[in-house]
Amino acid sequence: MPFPDISLREKDAVLKEHLESSPVNSGATFPVVRPRRLRRSPVLRAMVRETELTAADFIYPMFVRPGKDGAREIPSMPGIYQWTITALSEEVESIANLGIPAVILFGIPEHKDPVGVENFSVDGIVQQAIRAIKKIVPELVVITDVCMCEYTDHGHCGLLNLGDPLPDPSLPEGYVLNDPTLEVLGKVAVSHAQAGADIVAPSGMIDGMVGSIRKSLDQNKFENIAILSYAVKYASAFYGPFRDAAESPPKFGDRKSHQMDPANVREALREAELDVSEGADMLMVKPALPYLDVIHRVHSQFPQIPLGAYNVSGEYAMLKAASERGWLDERKTVLEALTGIKRAGADLILTYHAKEAARWLAEESGKIGK
Ligand code: PBG
Repeated sequence: MPFPDISLREKDAVLKEHLESSPVNSGATFPVVRPRRLRRSPVLRAMVRETELTAADFIYPMFVRPGKDGAREIPSMPGIYQWTITALSEEVESIANLGIPAVILFGIPEHKDPVGVENFSVDGIVQQAIRAIKKIVPELVVITDVCMCEYTDHGHCGLLNLGDPLPDPSLPEGYVLNDPTLEVLGKVAVSHAQAGADIVAPSGMIDGMVGSIRKSLDQNKFENIAILSYAVKYASAFYGPFRDAAESPPKFGDRKSHQMDPANVREALREAELDVSEGADMLMVKPALPYLDVIHRVHSQFPQIPLGAYNVSGEYAMLKAASERGWLDERKTVLEALTGIKRAGADLILTYHAKEAARWLAEESGKIGK
């Protein structure tokens, strides 16, 4: 309703009358209210922006493997590599210079066996990588993935119910045994801490893993090493490219007896609650984009606990593949997706897009309006 040329007092009267006759009781509406006023220019839009994505939100996942030759690109994850220690050492400074505060490491060991002994050996590939990074950029936060699937010859996340007789005849053959696995996870976490990791991130969805790792760390005087729990990890098909990258697909069966059913969200709150009570310093929801509601629910229920979200390999591959074909604008879709994850409630985003996104954000920073 355009205001004719009338006095202020008359204007107020018109406005009041308009408000009183408004169909919604909450107050003014169109044409008094026009949300587009604040979208008129880039600077106005930036002034009222509610979510600000920055490089400080990112955690960059890196795969390390033994060997002397350079980095090997992962076919299903263009732009992401399996790094050797030498190649990794040349890379980490540029990551820190982009303003990315942390990396999370995954190892591809020289040899795999039923227990995965390289997972907790002093000269395991991840332990070497931690020491190399800490020598070059000591301030870069090093997080390590604590799981068994990359190290076991069967590709499962724990010790298995195998043998004659079965270790536990009440459970199916091949079942991932819970309590015996906890002991191995504790050893892995301690060996990562000994090598200099800042944060350990158990990802196997084994019951009691947070409490048990906390106890092992504390018994070894690592009270100050934090735990980022993959508290809410779904049995997701979006991990496909990661399993190529980490050479960790299960040789038989699947991970549904420990990872969560994608249909559940109340159970996610239960998982998060248990991990908080076991001493998790930070929580994670994984994957991210198909689970924004879960991120939101966990964030609302535990606002006091920093929350990470893992924008997983399949989410990365989708945007990469579509933008390589010219079907999507990579820069815009990546920044939109990452902003969406943050808006849903994630404080930290584990993402393979971290370096490119940090570069794009740096290009935009300092300008008024975007
Ligand atoms: C287990 C682990 C997985 C991922 C991170 N940690 C794979 C799995 O559970 O099968 C997936 C990450 C991704 O897809 O990017 N060590």
